[in-house]
Amino acid sequence: MPEFQEKAPLLDREVIADDIFRLTLHAPKIAAAARPGQFVMLRVGAGMDPLLRRPFSIHQIDASGNMKILFKVIGRGTAALAGVSPGSSIDCIGPLGNGFSLEKKGRLCLVGGGMGIAPLYFLASRLLQNGKRVDRDFVLLGARNHQELHIVADEFYELGYRVQTATDDGSLGHHGFVTELLDPILPAMERVCTCGPLAMMKICADKAGAADVACQVSLETHMACGLGACLGCAVRNADGGYLHVCRQGPVFDAGEVKWTG
Ligand SMILES: Cc1cc2nc3c(=O)[nH]c(=O)nc-3n(C[C@H](O)[C@H](O)[C@H](O)COP(=O)(O)OP(=O)(O)OC[C@H]3O[C@@H](n4cnc5c(N)ncnc54)[C@H](O)[C@@H]3O)c2cc1C
Ligand code: FES
Repeated sequence: MPEFQEKAPLLDREVIADDIFRLTLHAPKIAAAARPGQFVMLRVGAGMDPLLRRPFSIHQIDASGNMKILFKVIGRGTAALAGVSPGSSIDCIGPLGNGFSLEKKGRLCLVGGGMGIAPLYFLASRLLQNGKRVDRDFVLLGARNHQELHIVADEFYELGYRVQTATDDGSLGHHGFVTELLDPILPAMERVCTCGPLAMMKICADKAGAADVACQVSLETHMACGLGACLGCAVRNADGGYLHVCRQGPVFDAGEVKWTG
């Protein structure tokens, strides 16, 4: 797989919610090579602070070589990234990891929770570009509230998917967990692709398994290098061994992963 390092000019910075931002970076080599589900390692601060790069899913790509990432501020690195102004450049390495299946046949349900919605938009748009019929496919999105979700939910809707939302406070769509939306839909689906909190993906994997529906999950672990060098991203696999999320993932068949809890 080709990987590139680009100093990408920041073209736009959108504030989606109080602590959620979307950046548009001009990274033509990464954008041209990227597949849905892959990620980039971004140097989030100037100089050596913070020292390590941080991983972010590729959220959107356009034909002009622009790449969007959607992220929530949770610590020092993401706070630094949120403070970068248009006109600056961000050092990016990518595209990294594998990707979701781009199978065009069969009905598909995408399930995204929190920032897990980021890679699913790239998947949804690429499937449409590839000629998949999507008007019978579902996108189920969960977040804390309306503010976090409505902009991206509208973008999925514009692609032609059947979009349903769930929020913790009931301010948009179903008041409750996004996984509760899956039950009536699942029997008609052939595949589920999910990204979000581990507990949410485990529920998706369990429900899909019980319904005999294929399920791909995108895991988010701590990553120090993102390049297969530190082994800091290892998770247990179903056979008692280890999966290295940065190189073998982040996308896995649900059955490959050892789910706990
Ligand atoms: C493949 C991949 C794709 C990702 N895509 C996105 C994305 O599209 N949007 C987005 O907002 N985030 C994404 N993340 C998570 C993002 O990388 C982390 O939020 C970020 O690295 C945190 O950096 P920080 O310096 O702000 O926080 P830190 O200061 O490093 O950590 C702050 C706190 O958060 C915890 N933490 C940090 N990273 C994680 C993690 N991955 N899982 C659980 N807890 C963690 C730390 O233990 C600590 O308690 C992705 C992660 C991976 C592995
Ligand atoms: S993050 Fe270093 S090996 Fe995966």
